[in-house]
Amino acid sequence: MNWAVTTYDSAFGYVSAHGAPLVDLLDPQPGERIIDLGCGTGTFAAEIAERGAEVLGIDGSPEMLAQAAAQHPGLSFVVGDAHDFTTTDPFDAVASNAALHWMTRDPDAVIARVHAALRPGGRFVGELGGAGNCAELIVAMQTAWRVFGLGEPELPWYFPSPAEYAKRLEDGGFTLRLLEHADRPSRMTEGPNGAADWVSAYAPRALADVPPELVEPLLARINDLAAPALRRESGWVADYVRLRFAAVRKPDRAGPMPDGPPLAGGPGLGTDPGL
Ligand code: BEZ
Repeated sequence: MNWAVTTYDSAFGYVSAHGAPLVDLLDPQPGERIIDLGCGTGTFAAEIAERGAEVLGIDGSPEMLAQAAAQHPGLSFVVGDAHDFTTTDPFDAVASNAALHWMTRDPDAVIARVHAALRPGGRFVGELGGAGNCAELIVAMQTAWRVFGLGEPELPWYFPSPAEYAKRLEDGGFTLRLLEHADRPSRMTEGPNGAADWVSAYAPRALADVPPELVEPLLARINDLAAPALRRESGWVADYVRLRFAAVRKPDRAGPMPDGPPLAGGPGLGTDPGL
């Protein structure tokens, strides 16, 4: 289901949003400075760089970044936590593809750091799992955990509703230009064993709490439970739901002129080594 508009007036023109690649919503311009937040192995960062922008990939995983640097030697990558990264000079845009749903600790803190990294008018464009994402997979996990007397599995994801995320962005100092909430069933590519391989790949911490002798039967039960909804003749399909947005950092409010000398250590003055 589409929640919202399918076109929007981007900072650089009129873009057809629905189904467009995320990089087209971002619309990188040559020479722009853009952060790819949660860049993983750098695939999306490389797409942005192909449009002539200068990209900085940030990710919390040194292992992912090692792969990113090996695969994209011309790009810049740095280890950082999206909840508390800092930059010295403002960026033109921050983009994030399939990463914000892993940043569960404090979504408002992530939005605040993005805001601080952008110049006024800078863009924040992203795609993450939205409310209802992986609902069949999650119910299969929860049911299997219960069947084996294991309580509730630890689910390491944040899948907000459009209304919730819109409010966070607006409260965080952004004007929302596009918000879309849409089903996107996607072929599972994690392995031949369907939902079981998906859970092994993406919920390893939940599995780490399971007694070793129960892991295989638990995964087999997840497959049994999920198959009616997610197994097709052509293979397994994950019930992904995407939340996509494009937002613009509001201009700074013009306040009264301060009396006295300017304060030291303001943004861009370089007191924080940052990124
Ligand atoms: C996704 O929606 O892209 C996703 C969610 C949870 C685990 C892996 C992928």
